[in-house]
Amino acid sequence: MRIYTDDLTNEYVRDIAGRLICDITDKESDIAEDELHIRYVAGTLSLVKGSLTLTGELESKRRLSKANLEKELIVKACRIRNHEGSIRVVDATAGLGEDSILLAAAGFDVRMIEYNPVICELLKDSMKRAAESMSGVISRMSLSIGDSIEVLPSYEGWADVVYLDPMFPKRNKSSLIKKKFQLLHNLESPCASEHELLEAGLAAKPKKIVIKRPLKGPYLDGVKPDYSYTGKAIRFDCIIPR
Ligand SMILES: C[S@@+](CC[C@H](N)C(=O)[O-])C[C@H]1O[C@@H](n2cnc3c(N)ncnc32)[C@H](O)[C@@H]1O
Repeated sequence: MRIYTDDLTNEYVRDIAGRLICDITDKESDIAEDELHIRYVAGTLSLVKGSLTLTGELESKRRLSKANLEKELIVKACRIRNHEGSIRVVDATAGLGEDSILLAAAGFDVRMIEYNPVICELLKDSMKRAAESMSGVISRMSLSIGDSIEVLPSYEGWADVVYLDPMFPKRNKSSLIKKKFQLLHNLESPCASEHELLEAGLAAKPKKIVIKRPLKGPYLDGVKPDYSYTGKAIRFDCIIPR
């Protein structure tokens, strides 16, 4: 994949190109019309293909007011009754961090894991921008690159909650997939290792595993949760390991 920038001297984007082992150009004409590529313009990193653009937008995330956070199903699902101190969540499928920021804003400590290097860069860039206006929330979030199936067991002793939101199973109508997620589908296919992911989550020995699913979607790995929180379009399944 290539990176387009209007400032080839910018160290920040040059470092990203180095980490992703990408060619970098400042000539728009080098990029074909429908080519999937990364753009770094006006201090923002995006993934672009034709008319579609995917940018991490943590800094403009609404829903972060205290009153709203208490109503968020993900916050309710990740709470642990009678827990002392802040709850520690490993978000093992970080994506663009939109779920993690809700948890961090609600006071949870969140460690995010993401294995796709491009998504990792989009998320890091978004955290950098968001830190300018909400450094307190961002300081409760950290990100590492890696495959959760391999690294989750090492969170034993730290994780109170393991949060899983692997790519939903394929839907029949592609129009149901939000436009911005169409681009994500260029990088990531629906999860094919549900069993391994759930086993790795259990190996971290959390008090709870919370799984985001489509409202009528099947259980992750076919495992029936202890209870669920259901919204209009999504469901949070909660498993209490014994
Ligand atoms: C549906 S997205 C998650 C969206 C995220 N909850 C949010 O709010 O932005 C799933 C993400 O999990 C990542 N992922 C899937 N399996 C993974 C694994 N085994 N280890 C690390 N990341 C994984 C994918 O690359 C993708 O970015």
